Amino acid sequence: MRMDGNQRDASGPIVRLVGLCKSFGRLEVLREMSLEFERGKTTVVLGPSGCGKSVMLKHIVGLLRPDRGEVWFQDARVDRLNEAALAPIRRQLGFLFQQSALFDSMDVRDNVAFPLAEHTDLSTELRAQRVIEVLDMVGMVDSIEKMPAELSGGQRKRVALARAIVLRPKVILYDEPTTGLDPLRARTINELILKLQDELDITSIVVTHDLDSAFRIADVLVMLYDGAVVMQGAPQEFRDSPNPAVQQFLHAQSAAGPPTPVGGGEPGAKA
Ligand SMILES: Nc1ncnc2c1ncn2[C@@H]1O[C@H](COP(=O)(O)OP(=O)(O)OP(=O)(O)O)[C@@H](O)[C@H]1O
Ligand SMILES: [Mg+2]
Repeated sequence: MRMDGNQRDASGPIVRLVGLCKSFGRLEVLREMSLEFERGKTTVVLGPSGCGKSVMLKHIVGLLRPDRGEVWFQDARVDRLNEAALAPIRRQLGFLFQQSALFDSMDVRDNVAFPLAEHTDLSTELRAQRVIEVLDMVGMVDSIEKMPAELSGGQRKRVALARAIVLRPKVILYDEPTTGLDPLRARTINELILKLQDELDITSIVVTHDLDSAFRIADVLVMLYDGAVVMQGAPQEFRDSPNPAVQQFLHAQSAAGPPTPVGGGEPGAKA
């Protein structure tokens, strides 16, 4: 509809958070969080449990409203839109939730077709075709007739990912896509994120505390602490950062996690 937007939006950030504040009762979760997500890039957001990563994602899709601050998607002020006005925005934002919630009573085909039925008036034939296309991308066509209960955790994630991309969004938000998966399945998901990035020219926003995955897929890394951004930069800048919060996070995670951080090991500083 709004063809005029294309040119103006051709570069620069696609999602912008400006001075976001959000409290739940007396718990201050986001404190003046400002962050820009570059179009076509994979930005990985790291941070300790409870620091507000999922809350941040929910603001981007308008599931939560800030107490103060602004949420922008292209030239739309998301935090000001009512539900009706949000619908066309949400169609452009695929969301892979932390608990990849499939509908248990529907088979894989119907789970993936669901957003098409809700948001488009594509013919039955085109819908079927689109479902096959995205299941093929995530390597799950053979399971099209299975019920969610028959799938492993990693397979469920892949189906949820197929559902998240079936409307061809401009941005995909991933909330802990690899948590709870064994290293092999985690790697499959990481490769998928990269592949979708490549094939669909998509912008990815990935929230995780899995450092291994973060360094594998990120163009840009962001570290949150206490509801605000403490650092944003390329993976190498991150390893080399003198910021104590960053170093503490890198060391704590690599001590707790698998012994081989990807792409060359020891994060920056000698002890
Ligand atoms: N709807 C809500 N109502 C009240 N408190 C909430 C709500 N959503 C989140 N919180 C609180 O906000 C804080 C941040 O939550 P959030 O889910 O963003 O953490 P997170 O960084 O995603 O953590 P994790 O890595 O464990 O997923 C937590 O203390 C959480 O209990
Ligand atoms: Mg979370």
